[in-house]
Formats: sequence, C-alpha cells, structure tokens
Amino acid sequence: MLNLKLAPIRLGLCFLLIVIFSSFKGDKARQTFEIGKEHFLLNGKPFQIRCGELHFARVPKPYWRHRLKMMRSLGMNTVCAYLFWNFHERSPGTFKWNEEADIAAFCKMAQEEGLWVILRPGPYTCAEWEMGGLPWWLLKYDDIALRSKDLRYIAACQNYLKQVGKVLAPLQITQGGPILMVQVENEYGFYADDADYMGIMRKAISDAGFNVPLFACNPPYHLKKGFRKDLFQVVNFGTNPQEAFKSLREVQSEGPLMCGEFYSGWFDTWGTPHNYGKIDQYLKDMEYMLKNGNSFSIYMAHGGSSFGFWAGADRPFKPDVSSYDYGAPVSEAGLPTEKFFKTRALISRYLMPGEPALPPPPSTDPAITFKSVSLTNFAPLFENLPAPTTTTSPKTMEYYDQAQGSILYRTTLPSGPACTLKIGAVHDFAWIYINGENLGVMDRRKRNFQLTIPARAKETRVDILVHAMGRINFGPEVHDRKGLVSPIQFVDSQQKVLMVGDWNVYNLSYSEEMLKGLKYGKKIDQGVTPGIWKGEFSLSKTGDTYLDLSKWGKGVVWVNGHCLGRFWNIGPTQTMYLPGPWLKKGVNEVRILDLLGPEVAELRGLEQPILNDLHPEKDFTRSKRPEVVFNQENILPIYQGKFPDSDKMQSISFPQSGKGRYFCFAALSSFSNDVATIAELDLLDATGKPISHQNWTIGYVSSEELIKENGGAENAIDGQTFNFWSSEWSYKKALYPHYLVIDLGREEVVTGLKYIPKAGSSSAGRVKEYKIFLGNEIVRKKN
Ligand code: GLA
Repeated sequence: MLNLKLAPIRLGLCFLLIVIFSSFKGDKARQTFEIGKEHFLLNGKPFQIRCGELHFARVPKPYWRHRLKMMRSLGMNTVCAYLFWNFHERSPGTFKWNEEADIAAFCKMAQEEGLWVILRPGPYTCAEWEMGGLPWWLLKYDDIALRSKDLRYIAACQNYLKQVGKVLAPLQITQGGPILMVQVENEYGFYADDADYMGIMRKAISDAGFNVPLFACNPPYHLKKGFRKDLFQVVNFGTNPQEAFKSLREVQSEGPLMCGEFYSGWFDTWGTPHNYGKIDQYLKDMEYMLKNGNSFSIYMAHGGSSFGFWAGADRPFKPDVSSYDYGAPVSEAGLPTEKFFKTRALISRYLMPGEPALPPPPSTDPAITFKSVSLTNFAPLFENLPAPTTTTSPKTMEYYDQAQGSILYRTTLPSGPACTLKIGAVHDFAWIYINGENLGVMDRRKRNFQLTIPARAKETRVDILVHAMGRINFGPEVHDRKGLVSPIQFVDSQQKVLMVGDWNVYNLSYSEEMLKGLKYGKKIDQGVTPGIWKGEFSLSKTGDTYLDLSKWGKGVVWVNGHCLGRFWNIGPTQTMYLPGPWLKKGVNEVRILDLLGPEVAELRGLEQPILNDLHPEKDFTRSKRPEVVFNQENILPIYQGKFPDSDKMQSISFPQSGKGRYFCFAALSSFSNDVATIAELDLLDATGKPISHQNWTIGYVSSEELIKENGGAENAIDGQTFNFWSSEWSYKKALYPHYLVIDLGREEVVTGLKYIPKAGSSSAGRVKEYKIFLGNEIVRKKN
C-alpha cells in the first residue's frame, strides 16, 4: 500500500536518482578524444596512450577478464584489439559475434577494468593469423586481387565493416564506450602504394558509423606509400624510436608521435628457435618513449595461442607455431614474466600527473599435471574417407568449399615405364602413395614438386595426400590456395604427358562432424599410417596444463572438442597450452591427428611449457637445405659496393643489369667486424619495380645462426624488416665473406636492389663492402 505521507519524499528521491543517472550518462556522452597538435587529447587534456596489444581470439573467453587485469597491472591504460574478419564471417554473409567471438563483451569488460580500446578491424590484419584475417572463401574467385580495388573484394569488405559498425560503433567514446580510435587496414605500405584504396577502406569504416579518429600504421620505410592526409599516421617498429619518429615527421609534420606496434619479442615459425626478445633494448626504447611523452602499443603485451586452425604462415613459406607466446611480458598462459615486472617498474616511474599507482597483478591458479596415458583407439585416414568428388581436373580446396585440413587426390596410372609426377605447386605438404605404399614427400618449404614414379607392370593406384598449414598472412602470398595447384601431370622420359583415369577428390576438413563419424579400431603396430588417435585422461582437479607432444609427429590436437592447434616434432614448441576452463573433473577426451605417426602413442600434462626445443633431425624431408654445389668462384660480380654505416634503407641501381636464376649477395666485411646481417632484400626488375618474392627460396647460404637466435637466411626475403638473416655466431664464428644466394625460381633481369639493414642504432652486423653475382650456374643441385 502506498504511504501517502512518504510519497512526495519517494518521488523526490526518484527525481534525484534520475538527475544523478542522467548526469552520469551525460558525463559519459561528454567524453571526447581528439588528435591535438602535439598530444592526444582526452576530454581536452593531454593523454599519453600506453597500450597493450591483446587478441581476444587468442585467449579463452573465461580468461579475458584476467588478462585485462594483467594489462592494467602492467601499466597499460588502453588495449589494442585486432578483429580477425575470418573469425566473424566464417561463411559469406553469416556473422558470429557471440561466445568466443563476442568483441562487444570484450570491449565492455575492458572498460570495466579501466582500459580504453583501440580497435583494429582490418579488413586485413596480418598478425600471424590464417590469411591475415581475410576469409578463405574470397579465394573461390580464381582471379580475385585481395587488398586492391577489385570490386568483389571491396564489396565483401564493405559488408563486413558495416556489421562491425553495428556491433561496435555504439561502444565508441563518443557514445559512452571505451573505443578511442579505429585503425584502417594494416601496414598497407608493405603491400602496395594505392592511396585511393586506403580512401575506400577509410570511407567504409566511417560509413559504418565510426566517428572517432581514424588512423593508419606502417613501418618507417613505408610511411609514404598509400599515405593520405585524412588518415592520422602512426609508425610501427621494434627499436630505435628516435629514427622511426623522424621518418614519421617527414610525412606528418605535427600531431602526437605514436608507435603503433612496439615489438616486445617476435613470433615463432616451425623449425626455427623461439624468440625471447631483447629485454634491455626493449626497456631502453620504451623509456625513451615514456620520457618524451610518446604514445605506444606493445605488440604483444600478451600473445596467447593460435588455437584451432588459426595460425598463419610467413612468406615465402614458414608456417607459424600454435603458441603465440611472442616473448611478451605476459606469457602464453597469462603469467607475469621478468619482462612484465621490469615493464611495470619502468612505467610506474612515468605515470601521468595524478595517476594512481598500478594495481598488483591478479592471482593465477597453479598449473596441474597428469601422468602418461596411452591412446589406443586409432582411425586410419584412408579407412575413413568421405564420399569423393570425381573430376578430370582436380582443383584446390577452396573450389570444394573446404576451409582447412587435408585433401586426398586419387587416380589410376596405366602400366608403363618409370615416369615423373610434376605438380605446379603443393600447398603445403604431400605424401605420395603407389598402391598404398608411401613413395615420397613433396614439401612447399623446398619447392620440390616432382617425384619419380617407378615402372608399373599393371594399372596402379596413385594417392596424393596433401596437408595444409595456415594460409600465408603477409605479402601478395595471402592468395594462398591449399591443396594441389595445377598443372598435375605425369610425364614420360620424352616429357610427353600421360593420360590418367579420372581423379577422386576427398575433402578431409577435420570438422566436428567428420571427427564424430570416424571409425576407430585398435592400433597394434606403430607404422606411419596417417590417422586420428583417441584416448582419455582423468583429473581430480582442473587447471592449466601443457600437453607434451614431443613423442608425436605432426598434426592437430583436440581436447573435449576444443581444438588446441597444430604440433610438429621439429619444434621449437614441444608442448601445447591446454587452458583449465576446457577441462573437467573426471574423464577428459583427447584426439590427435598424426600424419607421421608417434614414436610412442602416449600423452601427459606438464607444469611448464617447452617452447624452445628444436629437432631438425626429425624433419621428415630431412636436411634443412637442399644439398647444392656452390659455384661462384668463376663468375664475375655484376656489382661491387660499400654501404654507409646507417640503418636506413639503401637503394642501389646497377650500371648494367644482370640476368639469371640465382642472385648471390656476398658480404665482404661489416662495420663491427662481427657477424653479417640483412633485414630485407628486394631486387628490382627492368622497370625498377621490386620483383615478387613468390617463387623465391634460399638457394644457398654459407653461414646462418640457427641455434641461439632465429637468424635463418629466409628472414632476408620474407618481407618483414624486424627479423634478419645473421651469419653464425653461437657455435662458431664463420669467416668473411658470407654468401647468401636467392633462387629466384626462374631467370630474372635484375637492375638493382633495396637493402634494409638490421634496425637499431648500433653498427653491429651492418654490412660494409659487398659484391653481387647473378647467373644460372651459381648453384647446382647435387644429384
Ligand atoms: C606486422 C603486423 C602485425 C604482426 C607483426 C609481426 O607488424 O602489423 O600484425 O604480423 O608484423 O608479429
């Protein structure tokens, strides 16, 4: 019953509450974020962005809040969030924004934890993520030109960005949310020089309802490419802020200076050492930025894991490991590292006026372990094939609507003398079987796409089982179709193409549906038959653990239906992070796809990860580099020169062009009289444009550091400028000259080169004198 006497008081209270509430809402609505002449301005006051990059798609949802608290404790006032388009639009027109893809929930949680958000929706993102975040189904168009003005690509981008706007525009600071700025595209200067394209992407984002400042990021060398005055620029680098900001000032004479990606470490690829990152240099560079009022985003502050089939690949073809630990301040499993505590201590000395002390890190539950269990149920792939598609001209996976996994191509070959199987390209590994017997392997890393097929007395079944790793996420190679790339031919000794029967194509995507339908038997012998193993382990309590995969070959792991990602015994990663929330008390189910077969079909849970244990001897195509005869001595150099002692890009045009399949860079000396290093080499064609790296491999290298540092020669041609080739230093220091030969895949005319030295203010490893050789005979394959 309403007490009439109290009614006016109640009404008054209600009114007061409404006033308070609306003024709170009003306050939120009044929040502003602008780009001033010198500073970012938050509500009109200078604001230094201390941002940590954290990909929510790489962290299990139950841990989002914990990781955000870690960001606050690390000293961040903002988080950077990449959106991976392919995570949200898995088939054209069908969007997923809930569960693990609930970016709105992530942004709201960040706000609750006192963090602002910088949104990076792509459409292209890179990030060592499958195809740089672009959806595989775009590749169903044979001739689509991604990241260009191709109308089919643009329409798909606009549609995606419109959906992003629906979900996230209400969370901008202008509407009371945490989103301060939105990035357009990603390091487009690495890819092309089309300011109109950047304009189209910019407009798509603003048409989607984003009215906060929009910006673009690029490394120092590429800031001018695709530059537009209506897009604020930030610069990405791992070291030497002074020089990088100088380059930024050349394109943008005023405005705050911000590092869009400040590398705390680096990602790992299969077969190369784990990257820890250089802590002293990192802290020194961060201190420079803190002192000078520069803004920055630590890439990565917490890397997490590329679960599922989401890990990408670097170019020319270096597939990424599933762990995205990155040597970041917060480890893959969310633990604080030495880098965490040192970063936190440093930032604590440079807090903004009036800013409260940093909160302590949140607690983390201890990791659990479990003892070895045997996996005895085995489903051989060849006995679990789905219904095939029959065709005369087999195509890549995309054509069959297959996103990922393996694909089997089967045909019959008539009787006859020995012949050669020749394939345009294999993406990425192919095991060839003749009447069920494994005959050999083709490996994209080595571009060996030919195999001799022995003489046959009768008709013979040929199976080509192709397994795909992640799609390349960087450079023009993002057009990375999987499976067999035509032509697929059997040729006789006269190079005449043989007629074969129809092909049956079996799509093995390892979808939940496929896994559920598998027929298991008991595996007795430990042969190399590819297949899926099933087993169980029991737990009395749950918690994070690391599955020890070191006795297994190469494949994919699922636990209780969650796909943990890919493993490979060559390392450097030998364990897989298994988050506690995906486990249950009692029985847990595990499935392991192994294409090579395990040494022992056993599995255990460890307390610590193994992130850096390389086993090149286990690489199934054996030697890391093809055995070659290096034969430069009798060839005259086409050019000889001396670089300046600087970390700036050097462009050289040769007085006379050269021609040949092998390009040899001979480093004769360095400024530090120490190792020779190269961050990146580009070669220029007859018109002065860089030649595509698409067909390149390393033909020969006389010395490279593969133990203590990821100094592999591929780093000089992968398009990334942060990593570098280094001559060997940990085991023995090789003597000058050092030779690096690029196999261009075909004869090319080369008129000059662009050389990017290792970044940093120190001369260490900078090449001084050098010679260039070009020819078809520099390298000869050993028979
Ligand atoms: C570039 C990209 C990032 C990431 C890093 C390497 O800078 O912008 O997405 O790929 O390289 O980790």
